[in-house]
Amino acid sequence: MRVPGEIAMTRRRRRRRSVVVGLLVCATAAGWYAGSASRGAGQVDAQSSKQSTANTRDVQRTVENSPSSMRRFAVSIRKPEGPPRVITGLTDLHGNPVTAACSTCHSTRKPNSTNRTAQDLNEFHGNLKISHGAISCLSCHNGEDYDALKLADGRRLEFTEVMTLCAQCHGPQMKAYEHGAHGGMTGHWDLSRGPQVKNNCVDCHNPHAPQFPKMQPTFKPKDRFLEPPRTAH
Ligand code: HEC
Ligand code: HEC
Ligand code: HEC
Ligand code: HEC
Repeated sequence: MRVPGEIAMTRRRRRRRSVVVGLLVCATAAGWYAGSASRGAGQVDAQSSKQSTANTRDVQRTVENSPSSMRRFAVSIRKPEGPPRVITGLTDLHGNPVTAACSTCHSTRKPNSTNRTAQDLNEFHGNLKISHGAISCLSCHNGEDYDALKLADGRRLEFTEVMTLCAQCHGPQMKAYEHGAHGGMTGHWDLSRGPQVKNNCVDCHNPHAPQFPKMQPTFKPKDRFLEPPRTAH
């Protein structure tokens, strides 16, 4: 049974798990890319030496300066669905769960910027797990419209654009993300071969408790041969 106020998050959780698998795949893909990049360079040389007699370095520069000579697929970023909704615990005549938009309640409530932790929430949302610095709920949520987020300068931001919000406080990670060192992706590193889809910050980090789950250490496999002999003396 779901308690009222519990949120439709199960689908997203499942997605997060699949992203972790994606991350592992990426590590493998990176290794593969290191190999294929050098192969790719060879291909360009062979092709261009056919069309021109100029020396290799000049030809390479021409290829770099004219991206139209090579087909480039697009890079896209996965986006979360629109605003979240609250599961009311009721079902409609077809037996489907009834959900409510955030604004259903919040359009008639005064926004409270002193709410920061789960303990502050004694009226509703008490089941939220919150562990994200000491920032107020309203550093992210939009007090004027709870179906949207808000940037530090007060500008409204749709839930689908949540990465702009993360970037505002986590510049270094966003920079690393932009050049591919943080965040991972699925698809092709080599954009002449196919498109690339990058993960969203919230695919991996829960915005309320963003710490990435630590890996569970396990015992290393026992090595019979490298152990000191039992009859050492
Ligand atoms: C059934 C009514 C109801 C719905 C629907 C609802 N809320 Fe709330 N919300 C409340 C109440 C009541 C509080 C005050 C809790 C407290 O202070 O103990 C609250 C507090 C909050 C706060 C803390 C800031 C403040 O103004 O108190 C945020 C942020 C918030 N809700 C976001 C949301 C979001 C996002 C949704 C949609 C997923 C949502 N709420 C849906 C009733 C609701
Ligand atoms: C760092 C920014 C940030 C802070 C701080 C934050 N939220 Fe959220 N919150 C979000 C985002 C982004 C979503 C959308 C999550 C999604 O769609 O998976 C969300 C979703 C929600 C939801 C609906 C989905 C859910 O997880 O239950 C509620 C309710 C909510 N927030 C309430 C609160 C309350 C109450 C606080 C303060 C105690 C708070 N939030 C603090 C960014 C934040
Ligand atoms: C208003 C500023 C602000 C926003 C917006 C914000 N964060 Fe944070 N974030 C913080 C602070 C403050 C900390 C805590 C730093 C510390 O404890 O050293 C933090 C910590 C983190 C951590 C490290 C958690 C840990 O315990 O190791 C992650 C990951 C993170 N944020 C991700 C996100 C993501 C993803 C978003 C967008 C949904 C986001 N943040 C939005 C301020 C923000
Ligand atoms: C593919 C999953 C993934 C995505 C997508 C992702 N991160 Fe992370 N992030 C991680 C992991 C894993 C860690 C933990 C690194 C560690 O523990 O050493 C982390 C750590 C962090 C931290 C804590 C400080 C640090 O560098 O260790 C912050 C802040 C952070 N991420 C922000 C972001 C932001 C902002 C985005 C979106 C631009 C983002 N992350 C996208 C997986 C991801």
